[in-house]
Amino acid sequence: MPVTALTLTAPPSYLTLIADDMRGVDRVIAQRLDSGVPLVGNVAQHIISAGGKRLRPVLLLLMSRALGYQGSQHHNLAAVVEFIHTSTLLHDDVVDESSLRRGRPTANETFGNSASVLVGDFLYSRAFQMMVEADDMRVMQVLADATNVIAEGEVLQLMNMHDADLGVEGYLQVIRSKTAKLFEASARLGAILCKADPDTEEACAQYGQALGTAFQIIDDALDYDGEANELGKNLGDDLREGKITLPLILALQRASAEEQALIRAAIEEGGATERLGDILSIIQRTGALESSREAAADEAKRAISVIGPLEQNAYTKALLQLAAQLLERRS
Ligand code: IPE
Ligand code: IPE
Ligand code: MG
Ligand code: MG
Repeated sequence: MPVTALTLTAPPSYLTLIADDMRGVDRVIAQRLDSGVPLVGNVAQHIISAGGKRLRPVLLLLMSRALGYQGSQHHNLAAVVEFIHTSTLLHDDVVDESSLRRGRPTANETFGNSASVLVGDFLYSRAFQMMVEADDMRVMQVLADATNVIAEGEVLQLMNMHDADLGVEGYLQVIRSKTAKLFEASARLGAILCKADPDTEEACAQYGQALGTAFQIIDDALDYDGEANELGKNLGDDLREGKITLPLILALQRASAEEQALIRAAIEEGGATERLGDILSIIQRTGALESSREAAADEAKRAISVIGPLEQNAYTKALLQLAAQLLERRS
């Protein structure tokens, strides 16, 4: 099963460093998809065999290796965070009515909404079974909290739909919850596995949070200027859904009154495919994408600076590289 089935031609060097570990994680993932109910396996295989970047496992593994982990729970917990991530995607694609994920028709497109929601629940609960095996109350606490916050983030975003007055703070609150929290938990778990002191654990968690925030901001920029075949997702979905993200928030702030009215109408009404071209021009003219990318770069810099005090080794170097490379991603 490829670590990434999308567009990376040469694997980034941070992946080479943990190639054995990633194979170990893939083995755990394959083993733990077992179910006596065939539809569970079919739906789970459909999304998992499509690959994905496996970024949250990468983060947990790099962090645990950076701090010298020698135990045997890292593959299990890396698979747990990937299962939690995958279950959020199964649910998210139903909520967002998305039809393309990882370059394939989504599970909801192929198997229907009910199967996607229910198999998402299966993966969530399988992740909980696996996390209990780590037999560590802190691990369970971190994952239980993260899962709860992700769900809150998705609900908060639902409440913000079609609200053209959502500002940068409101946007950040959503993405810190729905996306950055699992990055934060993955990095924190790496530290917890190593029984790191509280300051080190907090630095690792902050790295994850900043990285996850940067990651989502880039994702939101790519929804306007990416390539669907690189990203493996349809573009323009955010506007179509009436979801306001950073590029649009900044464009609104900088647009003329007439342009603002056009954007507001698109957000409030949703389904605005015919306006996408005009809105893209406004986003480009106002430099909103460049500013969004700068905001992501600031978060990546924050990630890099918080792990400055960690002991330098190949893995901490890889973490620095990861933060820089995420800004350039197209997939
Ligand atoms: C998709 O996450 C959801 C977001 C947080 C934007 P990824 O882009 O990490 O998804 P995969 O696992 O690589 O497909
Ligand atoms: C992804 O959110 C789901 C979570 C982070 C829980 P989005 O809806 O913004 O991401 P894509 O574009 O579908 O991957
Ligand atoms: Mg979505
Ligand atoms: Mg969504």
